[in-house]
Amino acid sequence: MGAGGAKRVLVTGGAGFVGANLSLGLSRRHPDWELVALDNLHRRGSELNLPRLEDAGIEFVRADVREPAQLSELGRVDALIECSAEPSALAGMDGGEGSYAFHTNLVGAYNCLELARRDGAQLLFLSTSRVYPHDLLNGLALEEGETRFELAAEQQVQGVSEAGISEGFPLEGPRTLYGATKLAAELLITEYADAFGLSAVVNRCGVIAGPLQMGRVDQGVFSLWMLHHHFGIPLSYIGYGAEGKQVRDLVHIDDLLELVDEQLGDAERWAGIVANVGGGRERSLSLLETTAICRELTGNEVEIAAEPTGRHGDVPLYVSDCARLEELSDWRPRRGAREVMEDIHSWIVEDGERVANALGLAGRGEG
Ligand SMILES: NC(=O)c1ccc[n+]([C@@H]2O[C@H](COP(=O)([O-])OP(=O)(O)OC[C@H]3O[C@@H](n4cnc5c(N)ncnc54)[C@H](O)[C@@H]3O)[C@@H](O)[C@H]2O)c1
Repeated sequence: MGAGGAKRVLVTGGAGFVGANLSLGLSRRHPDWELVALDNLHRRGSELNLPRLEDAGIEFVRADVREPAQLSELGRVDALIECSAEPSALAGMDGGEGSYAFHTNLVGAYNCLELARRDGAQLLFLSTSRVYPHDLLNGLALEEGETRFELAAEQQVQGVSEAGISEGFPLEGPRTLYGATKLAAELLITEYADAFGLSAVVNRCGVIAGPLQMGRVDQGVFSLWMLHHHFGIPLSYIGYGAEGKQVRDLVHIDDLLELVDEQLGDAERWAGIVANVGGGRERSLSLLETTAICRELTGNEVEIAAEPTGRHGDVPLYVSDCARLEELSDWRPRRGAREVMEDIHSWIVEDGERVANALGLAGRGEG
């Protein structure tokens, strides 16, 4: 198979937000490729993506990445995009159950590595900014503006500047169970590359957002915010003064698709790369700013309570410094933060009823 030739690509977590969007996007871009989306449908609402996958001619396999026997039944693949996860930063925190996240995110990633090794397949791993320790991120010098926190110019920690957090940020310290499982998977990938010549690229993503994201209180905040505004369901600003000044950068899922497509097209050039992927300072929003956009787009105002006590493992600001990626590639995110929110809104207007039913939002509105 040549670099640009037809491929059989397995997308684990293929019914989830990232996995389904990537499967659909790649099948649109490469009608000659065979896409296989694998998912156990653990994420509430992921079943809504099955008809979309089917309409696009994408094979769906209901299987569990925790079960090596189920993966070994799959035919040979040329590339594997590992998007399966329990992606909540709250998983296993504050005494909660962490076993599902551990087994899916780490054991599942290990099983995917074994499959990639079996087939000599390229591996694309969706990692996360959560690999960076939350204690250190909470200790960064911030300035408080009218609507958001900003990184101060002077910092005591390496790997951080006004541009954001780079891959040089220290890795010592707690990072949530979710972050730990993802970092541990990254370490395994390095070993597989070294020992078995595995060709792998690690994308350390900030917030990825866009249509088809089944936003929950603990994951998918931009989608959650829009869903609650659309259906008139109250929200909360949690921690950090409870004024909604916490900030995240966001990258549109279609921008990520363009990067993934580039990486699939040139496995050799991307092998061994670990890089931050995000919208950067230019594409970031505070919750307060997100509220303003949601009000404008939906025409609705919802009650937003102030909860001063923050959540364990949360951070007041995360912005990706993508300088490493930008040196490697001409890829740049093209869609702005507002466009991300507009696209989420259009999807909810179109598909809101099904989403509300799947997520149990129906009937929770204020009116
Ligand atoms: N969405 C983001 O902002 C973001 C940011 C950084 C990294 N990531 C990473 O991107 C990937 C995809 O995240 P997402 O936002 O699409 O989450 P998601 O929850 O929408 O998708 C994950 C999918 O994995 C499936 N899944 C869970 N456990 C499984 C198992 N044991 N076997 C098979 N399938 C299983 C779920 O049913 C779901 O469809 C994850 O690896 C996540 O860590 C996401």
